[in-house]
Amino acid sequence: MATAATVWWQAGTIYQIYPRSFQDSNGDGIGDLAGIVGRLPYLRRLGIDAIWLSPIFPSPMADFGYDISDYIGVDPIFGTSADFDALVAAAHGHGLKIILDLVPNHTSDQHPWFVESRSSRDNPKRDWYIWHDPKPDGSAPTNWMSEFGGSSWQYDEATGQYYYHAFLDKQPDLNWRNPAVRNAIYEVMRFWMRRGVDGFRVDVIWHLIKDEEFRDNPTNPNFTAGRPPHEAFLPLYSTDRPETLDVVAEMRRVVDEFDDRVLIGEIYLPFDRLVAYYGSDLSGAHLPFNFALLSAPWNAFAIGELIARYEAALPLGAWPNWVLGNHDRPRVASRVGMAQARVAAMLLLTLRGTPTLYYGDEIGMKQVPIAPDQVQDPFEKNVPGIGLGRDGCRTPMQWGATEHAGFTTGEPWLPLDTDYHHQNAAALAADPHSILSLYVKLIELRKHMPELVFGGYEPVDAAGDVLAYRRVYDGQTVLIALNLSGGPASLHVGAGEILLATGLDRHGENVSGALELAGNEGVMVRLR
Ligand code: GLC
Repeated sequence: MATAATVWWQAGTIYQIYPRSFQDSNGDGIGDLAGIVGRLPYLRRLGIDAIWLSPIFPSPMADFGYDISDYIGVDPIFGTSADFDALVAAAHGHGLKIILDLVPNHTSDQHPWFVESRSSRDNPKRDWYIWHDPKPDGSAPTNWMSEFGGSSWQYDEATGQYYYHAFLDKQPDLNWRNPAVRNAIYEVMRFWMRRGVDGFRVDVIWHLIKDEEFRDNPTNPNFTAGRPPHEAFLPLYSTDRPETLDVVAEMRRVVDEFDDRVLIGEIYLPFDRLVAYYGSDLSGAHLPFNFALLSAPWNAFAIGELIARYEAALPLGAWPNWVLGNHDRPRVASRVGMAQARVAAMLLLTLRGTPTLYYGDEIGMKQVPIAPDQVQDPFEKNVPGIGLGRDGCRTPMQWGATEHAGFTTGEPWLPLDTDYHHQNAAALAADPHSILSLYVKLIELRKHMPELVFGGYEPVDAAGDVLAYRRVYDGQTVLIALNLSGGPASLHVGAGEILLATGLDRHGENVSGALELAGNEGVMVRLR
């Protein structure tokens, strides 16, 4: 049995806001900090505990804030530093934590550090970035590919060397082997923690260190056309180097200089590598993000199997976590369909580990089709036409049925889904059977049922496409049965009482023996 912890990031639910798309307060069509402050009461009613904000720092916006030109400011598009302080104060006033995005792997090419670095080979900041001579034939130093397509090396005429960029050429990678770089970023972390932030989600943390010998990556024998071009190679030498874990442990020590803060890592790796980021003796990230559900085939066998593999891979004492959506991946309601989106919600909020939910998923927002002339995402611009674009999951939050869904009085920076007239927060809040009401209920139950937070995870055998498990804690057992198919199903559960069904229509029903499930239905049963 797991020991009861009281740490907020273990017991709580994290909610990701993509600030450009949450709420505009000044009519420029782009969301801002004052807009978020105005929506805190909504988040409080939803019941979440912490907000993670995608980057809000000054940026040329080549990658919409993931290209930072000043780590300790606020981009005027989002407001001022005073607006940020007001947000932290207001959020804390509502009992909500604030987690910032930390983007330490790369800066904008407009960051003063890079401007200096590229100015000459003997500039003191030269070694803050990754510069390398061309091969004798003038070509790039290695075959490493940018995640956004093409070589990850950009030749710089003025100084005759290449610089490395894992993403856009406008996002040069910092040299994390240089202690001065490390210390500069650690100072950034301290700056924001002194300012009151409760932790960081660290962008592409598994990318921080690159091979010292700059060896070529091997080709990927399983690469197929239609996949992102960088997958043509296995990133053996460009990511997940062993020394990265030392850096993560250092970051953790910085976070631990302050009370009660959290360190979350963005890591797309298989479980055996992912869990290494908890660090030896759990000295690394508190929560290396577990993205397995973002690409899982949506059937009970596949999901049951991946939960078992994750649970088995976790080091002793490591706290699990689950993610259903983010600003880089297609919306869950489109991936699995509207009916299964409710089942997915019950899954996310009843698994063992901290749930992170993505803004809008609680109202069933779908992937919005983006016409070629509406494309904003640099990934889609660089590698067009194969469905890699991320704009469709970043569209404005659908607040109400009024013009532009109440997101802005101006022209929204991305189009709204045409369904916003009924698929919006106001309408769904008023409907006791809506997906939003389901989320509210699930988050509330999680708050009041220690077995959902601290209980062990015990898989239960079920026939058909049903995923079933028990969460057991302190003599209490709750059974969760999720029908991942559209047809009816039945499961022997013994005696109990239904606490919640995804249709919000079976509360209090007694069960004895068999539990009947409608198609696309999930049910939580308190077993006696
Ligand atoms: C992360 C972010 C993504 C960004 C990339 C480069 O994967 O989530 O949005 O484009 O890093 O910073």
